Amino acid sequence: MSVAVESPVVIAIDGTSASGKSTNAKLVARTLGYTYVDTGAMYRTLAWHCLQKGVDPHDAKAVANLCRRWKTELVCVENQVRLLVNGYYPEKEIRTSETSAAVPHVAAVPKVREWMKKRQRECVQFGSLVMEGRDIGTNVFPETDFKFYLDACIHERTRRRVSEGVNENLAARDQRDSQRAAAPLMVALGARVINNSEMTPEQTSQMIIDDVRQRLHEREKRHAVARQKSRW
Ligand code: DC
Repeated sequence: MSVAVESPVVIAIDGTSASGKSTNAKLVARTLGYTYVDTGAMYRTLAWHCLQKGVDPHDAKAVANLCRRWKTELVCVENQVRLLVNGYYPEKEIRTSETSAAVPHVAAVPKVREWMKKRQRECVQFGSLVMEGRDIGTNVFPETDFKFYLDACIHERTRRRVSEGVNENLAARDQRDSQRAAAPLMVALGARVINNSEMTPEQTSQMIIDDVRQRLHEREKRHAVARQKSRW
């Protein structure tokens, strides 16, 4: 069932690596009929493009230069936003270990974050959004009333990644994401923190959906009162 609202709603889902952001953001988007945006995929796409073009991901100036020049386009396919490079969507390439190793360096470049924030805000052209990342509630859409921060204990997060066939030092990646100067990972003011170590994706996403519906209902009531007052 889709929830009727006047202007696009943005649900921001931030959190640590393997805390279930993608799984839950997709479930929430599907249930509410909103568009899903994976902002990590956008950073990964730039990291992949750097590797393709022979640009060193550690060279912040070169990365920023490439980001200023690359030819991209945002499209929405089956309720999911894709960032195309020269008309191409590198779906598989952005998940390789080479891209994963390069992406935190690319994501730490301030000019890159500025560019990404602009593109990510443009996604409202596709309607109401469920956007997942690290800085959505703090930096990209700080004005939204719908902020969530997911986390789980390191053992559970490592178990999830291993079950996906990925062996990664999650603690090191979280540390890099949390300690960078530009838009670090942190809990946004007003965000609802959900530790889902012992929860299923169905339980986590339901908690988010219930919370969003409750807030939309309260907002609708406030608007109705304001409309009534303006008629008096
Ligand atoms: O969610 P992910 O693993 O696909 O993210 C890839 C990298 O991009 C990760 O190191 C964190 C970074 N990232 C970010 O800095 N800000 C975002 N909004 C999304 C991802």
